[in-house]
Amino acid sequence: MRVAVYLPAEDKTQWWVDMLQGLLPGWDVVSLDAAADPETVDFAVVWRPRTGDLARFRNLRAIVSIGAGIDHVLADSELPSDVPIIRTVGADLTQRMREYVALHVLRHHRDMPRQLLAQAQNDWHAIVVPVAPNRTVGVMGLGNLGAAAATTLAQLGFATRGWSKSEKTIDGVTCFAGQGGFDTFLDGCDILVNLLPLTDQTRGLLNASLFRKLPKGACVINCARGPHLVEDDLVAALDSGQIKQATLDVFHIEPLPTDHPFWSHPAVTVTPHVASQIDAATGGRLIANNLMTFAKTGTCDDVADAERGY
Ligand code: NAP
Ligand code: GLV
Repeated sequence: MRVAVYLPAEDKTQWWVDMLQGLLPGWDVVSLDAAADPETVDFAVVWRPRTGDLARFRNLRAIVSIGAGIDHVLADSELPSDVPIIRTVGADLTQRMREYVALHVLRHHRDMPRQLLAQAQNDWHAIVVPVAPNRTVGVMGLGNLGAAAATTLAQLGFATRGWSKSEKTIDGVTCFAGQGGFDTFLDGCDILVNLLPLTDQTRGLLNASLFRKLPKGACVINCARGPHLVEDDLVAALDSGQIKQATLDVFHIEPLPTDHPFWSHPAVTVTPHVASQIDAATGGRLIANNLMTFAKTGTCDDVADAERGY
């Protein structure tokens, strides 16, 4: 079996080639650039491939996304349409996202930005906030990551809600589904966490209309994809006080351009797409296992539904 690896936006392709080669003895793992005869490649392992990169490989059996989202693969308008896309998910990714969401929800809940501002002014300013059961947190997207994050928030004691496409039952979480449940879900959410996949239905969902449906002074955490957010709408909502604070891990353009206003906005916390980056060694093992299973059976657990976009 021949595997071609490609992470054009990062300088890590050769590292992944060497790691996967060690995990797939008897297979031939190469960088996509070095795949002299594209017809001989069975699997492509990619993160943010460029348009047209994958179309050259006419005998691909599957494409592996080094990550949970497949939007970066589907964004290629020349993508061969009938090749299965395998996501890379698992306990490591889920745990990291639970930690990130808990950290930033607690930070907003305890009003840490205001507390740190008081410290900077040598101001002994005691901020007393409601207890977690009196704080409503909503999680949009109840898949691998959203369901785990919502469960963690419920375990911390927050009044936790979740929203997904289909109906769900999650211990300690009040679940809403579909367009019909959306406004009721949003109504009263003090802190909103986005963990939706990026699709035609979810692009731009974090917009002025949504912000108006949240209570005044709500906080927003976007740890899914940058294009979920209409950036100008968020800036307007922050400036009017409708939204008090935002934590943003993902952006329309990554890395976030150095002159982007989010860097210095007093109500925005920027993290550089680190909410849940899979540990490479763990990711490598998951990918190798998925490839071996797929080679043997023609499928594996983590094949995404390209038609629905996640
Ligand atoms: P997933 O398992 O595919 O789950 C997606 C969830 O979103 C499902 O619950 C789905 O509902 C729901 N959903 C999809 N479209 C919807 C719609 N139109 N309306 C309502 N709900 C909708 O995804 P995941 O593994 O949890 O990952 C979610 C996203 O997180 C990824 O796509 C990726 O973009 C992002 N991510 C970010 C980082 C980071 O470091 N910032 C790391 C990993 C992933 P159903 O269950 O009803 O289908
Ligand atoms: C990271 O953003 C992922 O999709 O896993």
